[in-house]
Amino acid sequence: MSANSIESIEASARAVLERCDILAGHSEEPDRLTRRYGTPPMAQVNDAVAGWMRAAGMAVRRDNIGNLISRYEASEPGAGTFLLGSHLDTVRDAGRYDGPLGVLVALAAVERLHARGQRLPFALELLAFADEEGVRYHSGYLGSSVYAGRFRSDTLGTMDDDGIPLAAAIRACGGDPDALAGDARSPGDLLGYCEVHIEQGPVLEARDLPVGVVSSIQGQSRMTLSFTGAAGHAGTVPVSMRRDALSAASEFVLAVEAEARGTDGLVATVGQLAVEPGASNVIPGRAILSLDMRHPDDAIRQAACAQLRARAEEIGRARRVTLEWQTLGQSRSVSCDARLSALLARAVAESGYPILTLPSGAGHDGVMLSRLTGIAMLFVRCKGGVSHNPAESVTQEDVAVALAVLERFLSLVAADRGEKP
Ligand code: GLV
Ligand code: MN
Ligand code: MN
Repeated sequence: MSANSIESIEASARAVLERCDILAGHSEEPDRLTRRYGTPPMAQVNDAVAGWMRAAGMAVRRDNIGNLISRYEASEPGAGTFLLGSHLDTVRDAGRYDGPLGVLVALAAVERLHARGQRLPFALELLAFADEEGVRYHSGYLGSSVYAGRFRSDTLGTMDDDGIPLAAAIRACGGDPDALAGDARSPGDLLGYCEVHIEQGPVLEARDLPVGVVSSIQGQSRMTLSFTGAAGHAGTVPVSMRRDALSAASEFVLAVEAEARGTDGLVATVGQLAVEPGASNVIPGRAILSLDMRHPDDAIRQAACAQLRARAEEIGRARRVTLEWQTLGQSRSVSCDARLSALLARAVAESGYPILTLPSGAGHDGVMLSRLTGIAMLFVRCKGGVSHNPAESVTQEDVAVALAVLERFLSLVAADRGEKP
């Protein structure tokens, strides 16, 4: 790599980080970054990113769920399409890199091709997904599920916390909920998908490496459950006579932790808990919980879900509270494509870094994209492995490495086309 190209990669990496800062300024909340599906800040970041895409010589459109789909044409029409992308929504009180970094590194790669007046033999389609985190409708991959033709139309009636059904949220941001099936991408000309993403864990930092190649993405289940007992006076009802929903929920939360501690590789999280009616002098009549469960082996995850459901029913019976259990979404474990991952590993090595292959504990849009085409993922080191937290942090140097690796990977894909099985 010449001194000049190193310098320009550094400048592109700096621009990527500046753009992450700009996008982080678009939030639903004044003092922290929260950007859920279908909200005004999502429309604002879509506008900003679409403008940058157009300036990079791409044609841009928006599908009915709100994904941005941009295209940089090929030098050889008919040579197929390679997909790049990530998501622009965030969790509550988020960091600024989970999602946007992948969109903006891919965009920088296209911008640099455009600046050189260069095209790859195949077209590049850059995808900025409208919802990966699933914070608003409690089920992940809303955006990429539509693109991959995996959207479940029976979820259109799902309500957000304000009672707005998903179908209405889709209409409010300009989409047609009845037209989602027509937005499914045909897999015919696809050559693969590659996503750059922060690692969201501590492994790369511990190994002193800027990037790593992802081997697989573990499966996950998301549930919502409620315990319903009887609200009553905190001063008059003896403890032995209560049907306290929060006490049942508390016992269940500890059972979740015990299940995860006792099952190798299982992670299980209760991240939301609402108590009704919610007053210091009223016995809780209802407790509503979220439950997120993940394991690399789908059978172990499913068995653990069944085990916890049985445990919740047992707790309910013993405490005379009723249980409602609803599975909101499930995704299987996905392996990254062997050929694309080998090319990505070669791109890492040719960029001058040792190859580290690691599994992903977090979910990614690649799970849905794997239903369409082979996927590969490049992780970028993040400080302290911290993510889903405003302290998320990456360095400009590591972003420059990720960009250089992505560019080299695309050249390798171009060179490898003749050998594709
Ligand atoms: C997305 O970040 C997830 O893994 O929940
Ligand atoms: Mn993400
Ligand atoms: Mn995330």
